[in-house]
Amino acid sequence: MKEGDLVLVYRDQRSQYLIRLKSGNRLMTHHGDIDHDEILNHQFGDMITTHLGKEFYVLKPSHYDLMMKVKRKTTIIYPKDSGWLLLKTGIGPGSRVIEVGSGSGALTVLLANLVGDRGKVYSYERRRDILAAAQANIERYGLSNRVVFHLGDVARNGFQESGVDCVFIDVPEPWLVVEPAHQVLKGGHFLASLSPHIEQIKKTVEVMEQYGFKRIEVVEIILREIMVRKVGTRPKERAIVHTGYLLTGQKVKSQPLTRDRDDRNPAHR
Ligand SMILES: C[S@@+](CC[C@H](N)C(=O)[O-])C[C@H]1O[C@@H](n2cnc3c(N)ncnc32)[C@H](O)[C@@H]1O
Repeated sequence: MKEGDLVLVYRDQRSQYLIRLKSGNRLMTHHGDIDHDEILNHQFGDMITTHLGKEFYVLKPSHYDLMMKVKRKTTIIYPKDSGWLLLKTGIGPGSRVIEVGSGSGALTVLLANLVGDRGKVYSYERRRDILAAAQANIERYGLSNRVVFHLGDVARNGFQESGVDCVFIDVPEPWLVVEPAHQVLKGGHFLASLSPHIEQIKKTVEVMEQYGFKRIEVVEIILREIMVRKVGTRPKERAIVHTGYLLTGQKVKSQPLTRDRDDRNPAHR
């Protein structure tokens, strides 16, 4: 364990803290305090005790933890949705990707982790206060060197980059961002968008078709959490039933103005 490492200090579902280790700092919990220096003397998987003698475990946080524990200023994209989009779009080490808008930075954190030190995330946000919150989350996780933030309205001003590997869109009017996305995407690469309402998806698909995107697909991921207990195993009564619809499509270089009936997109069938 070294300074700067991210650690999940875990006792149970209710008492878990994601911290970045810094010598001299102290974690304060309802079960007592733990010095970061104490954690620095341990390894992942070790048990440690607070000054009140309560047990905690030093766990390695996953991408899921980093996303869910960003300080929230907006709704965030959920891991079930971003997981699918990232598999579909094939983002990985060295990728250069654009996202709009930055929001709370939950997707930014995931993208920055995946593109690595050789890649880059260009994150656009039109609200200054929200942009600052996303930046703070990225700094907290030590990922600032992988992310370039831009303040601006993409629907009006477009993007500053070109030849990117993917454009992720999570804004209320995604259809207004299709043209700028088409301009900056590499041929054959993905636009990916998340929207809570089907009307947003319909409008966006229509514009994507005008710009000739292929393999346009829309899915919804439904996740059920299962409780495993001695008395019986079953889904939880309460769940997040709906987050959003996920839209993907790939840019091709020609731009047919009318849709070929024999090459209908799966989204229409
Ligand atoms: C739902 S939040 C994005 C959440 C983000 N994906 C996350 O996981 O934390 C949508 C954000 O898009 C921003 N936004 C909306 N339209 C925009 C535009 N045309 N250009 C730039 N930012 C925009 C909003 O200000 C808002 O902060």
